[in-house]
Amino acid sequence: MSTTRQIPLSGPWLDEREEQLVVEVLRSGRLSLGPTIDAFEEAFAEVVGAPYAAAVSSGTAGLHLLCVAAGVGPGDEVITSPYSFVASANCAIYEGATPVFADIDRRTLNLDPAAVEAAITERTRAVVAVDIYGYPCELDELSAICERHGVALVDDACEALGARYKGAPVGSRGASSVFAFYPNKQITTGEGGMVTTHSEEEWRLLRSLRNQGRADSGGWLDHARLGFNYRLDDVRAAIGIGQLEKLDEILAARAAAAARYFELLGGINGLELPCADDSDHMRSWFVYVVTLPAGADREAVIAELDRRGVQTARYLPCIHLQAYMRERYGFGEGLCPLAEELSSRTLALPFHARIEEDDQAHVASAMWEALAASYS
Ligand SMILES: Cc1ncc(COP(=O)(O)O)c(C=O)c1O
Repeated sequence: MSTTRQIPLSGPWLDEREEQLVVEVLRSGRLSLGPTIDAFEEAFAEVVGAPYAAAVSSGTAGLHLLCVAAGVGPGDEVITSPYSFVASANCAIYEGATPVFADIDRRTLNLDPAAVEAAITERTRAVVAVDIYGYPCELDELSAICERHGVALVDDACEALGARYKGAPVGSRGASSVFAFYPNKQITTGEGGMVTTHSEEEWRLLRSLRNQGRADSGGWLDHARLGFNYRLDDVRAAIGIGQLEKLDEILAARAAAAARYFELLGGINGLELPCADDSDHMRSWFVYVVTLPAGADREAVIAELDRRGVQTARYLPCIHLQAYMRERYGFGEGLCPLAEELSSRTLALPFHARIEEDDQAHVASAMWEALAASYS
């Protein structure tokens, strides 16, 4: 019986080094709030070029804490991208604020700064910018807008560890940033996240908020403020340290895989490939997302690729069109036309650091045939 070879969408790169580091933590008995967390934070801060890093239980938790730190609350508005993962908007809703969606730039799929500025009102408290698919957002323009209007800027860099903006790592230029470590990300801890900041005061607040509001100076049962249990544990931190040790290799392998896709898919008529780097933006490869030709039937393409063993994902549905967003806020089609159009055409292909060249060739030929069939 012949079975179709399955090519998964993503996969982590873990080896004996992470196993060894995890065993060391297990044997140490320091499973939470131990020295491995500090070591992971220090190593991460150095990689990102930020003076302070606070490990948290997820990227979502990190975004939520930055909203708390920015004083987001009921009656406030928080502007973000409709073309992102829901956490970019949910972090504001958790604090009782209303999400406001500004449209995206067609080329980069990131927030269009002009649309952000147009969306600012006297109720705007923060902007959550996103480095979607690892391509840095227009950080300088967005920072200038936020400064001009006196609102906080949060960089949702959950997909962008290793990306560079104007030559410097994302996270290094002042905006507080959040990174995420779910297994499809550049590095993984299973679940986990990291907030980087350039303010010691904010860092101390984040460490308190993630640890049930305990202050550094107080006892275990002294709570200075309302906090959360958003701690990362030392076992996960150990995995993170192992992952950081091979970060350069991971990023290089991902860049090489992306380069192969550019070559393999470049000739397909009407298929748009991810935007290229330029002098200001250097992508860190998180996923490889193509934009199907306007007339192609995406569902037919997905079905045909699936029949050939190629996993795909509809990255990304517009946040404002999710059922709970429509119900809560009455959002609908037409709010962000560019994001809506692109979101109906984009598709993530199998992509990770150790994807095999043969598998990429198979994905590409399946895509050629699936697209040809989708028109007929
Ligand atoms: C852009 C973006 N923001 C936030 C998150 C949330 O991260 P986590 O899943 O670790 O909570 C993700 C993860 O998928 C993401 O891609």
